[in-house]
Amino acid sequence: MRKIVIAGNWKMNKTVAESVKLAADVVAAAKNIKNVVVAIAPTYLALAKVAEVINGSNVKLAAQDVHWENQGAFTGKISADMLKEIGVDFVIIGHSEQRSYFGETDETVNKKVKKVQSLGMTPIICIGETLAERQGGQLESVLTRQVTGAYEGLSGDDALRTVIAYEPVWAIGTGVTASDDEAQQAHAFVRNLLATRFGNSVAQSISIQYGGSMKPENAAGLLAQKDIDGGLIGGAALKADSFLGIVTPGETLDK
Ligand code: PGA
Repeated sequence: MRKIVIAGNWKMNKTVAESVKLAADVVAAAKNIKNVVVAIAPTYLALAKVAEVINGSNVKLAAQDVHWENQGAFTGKISADMLKEIGVDFVIIGHSEQRSYFGETDETVNKKVKKVQSLGMTPIICIGETLAERQGGQLESVLTRQVTGAYEGLSGDDALRTVIAYEPVWAIGTGVTASDDEAQQAHAFVRNLLATRFGNSVAQSISIQYGGSMKPENAAGLLAQKDIDGGLIGGAALKADSFLGIVTPGETLDK
């Protein structure tokens, strides 16, 4: 059995005051959600305040990134300890914006995954191909490289404590969504990679989210796919009602 995990990635949006308001709206809207794991990822600056707002609710806290070192001279960075202290449950790692704008590599993704897991938090490992890679027939080689790199040195037990977000880069923030079939095929491929590496029972237990212009209008179709176990939501997570419009269809699904 896999959990459906739906996380709102707020990216560089919302002041602290706005984040507090949105978090309160999400808590209210999600109060009857029982089966879907709902998480929100505000900016670092808003994490502590949002943690207070969601305390005692069924909404989990996620961070958008982390550094792999414990502490020290890494200007602008935040350590896993700092996130843990605030009560962060999930950490988004290897988002395509991190990879393309800020030099994230498969190797740094792997270091971050290990650090986050060592403190009992769950990494949401983002993978996905660019349009040029897809058109150039490299979809499978890119996903293989990203998954192999992210899980380097992890045991099957470690793998069980991860979530993957498959996010085709060409669908992120563009309004263009992968079709249900395109997404399902990529998810099945990723699950197969996990099965080859960790065995089928581990692979069947790892939640694989879809990300890239997911919204209430397309959520039910995507979530109904066999290997799609949730979503990582950008734009549509910035309003509680559209975010819940994605969460709600997941309530009645069994994976
Ligand atoms: P989007 O972003 O929903 O705005 O496409 C998704 C993401 O980048 O995680």
